Amino acid sequence: MKQIIVYGSQYGSTKRYAERLAEMTGIEAVEYTKAKNIGAYDRVVYLGGIFAGGVMGLKKTVARMTPQQELVIATVGVTDPQESAYFENIRKAVKALLPTQLYDEKNVFHLRGAIDYSNLTWGHGLMMKMFHSMMLKKPEAELTADARAMLETYGKKVDFVDFDALRPIVEIMTKES
Ligand SMILES: Cc1cc2nc3c(=O)[nH]c(=O)nc-3n(C[C@H](O)[C@H](O)[C@H](O)COP(=O)(O)O)c2cc1C
Repeated sequence: MKQIIVYGSQYGSTKRYAERLAEMTGIEAVEYTKAKNIGAYDRVVYLGGIFAGGVMGLKKTVARMTPQQELVIATVGVTDPQESAYFENIRKAVKALLPTQLYDEKNVFHLRGAIDYSNLTWGHGLMMKMFHSMMLKKPEAELTADARAMLETYGKKVDFVDFDALRPIVEIMTKES
């Protein structure tokens, strides 16, 4: 089975996961803007950072796939993957983006990433500043999991990358190849 790992990463944590996954499986990892012939693989394993609820590069990558291919998706965000209600919404958004044949719930995973406020782009820094001041005004009980994660990490440098969380993806990738 022909497989490829494709990733969308702005600040590098998703890239670290993709490169570790490549080491663990022997399958090449390529950044989504550089990946060639995505339609030629039986299975595409896509890892993308979450930005404002969207998965970086997923839409553009999927546009280059056919419904006959298999797609495995891993999102990378600062929100704890145990926050099931939040990730249910993320999966709904992902599902809405894909042709029905490409979406398979058991092939969707959530990994925890990293953030370093001293390293954000100017635009992202401003976005987070505005979001932070909006969230501070909200009652605690109304905060969604991503907002709580953002409030807890705001202005800091945190790294939640956990390569052990790649194991179920490795299992899928090595089972039938
Ligand atoms: C502008 C901005 C928006 C973000 N939005 C979300 C979000 O909606 N949900 C989430 O869990 N994490 C969010 N994050 C955190 C990123 O997903 C996290 O830093 C991730 O590890 C980034 O991946 P990368 O290092 O590969 O770019 C956001 C970060 C920034 C800077």
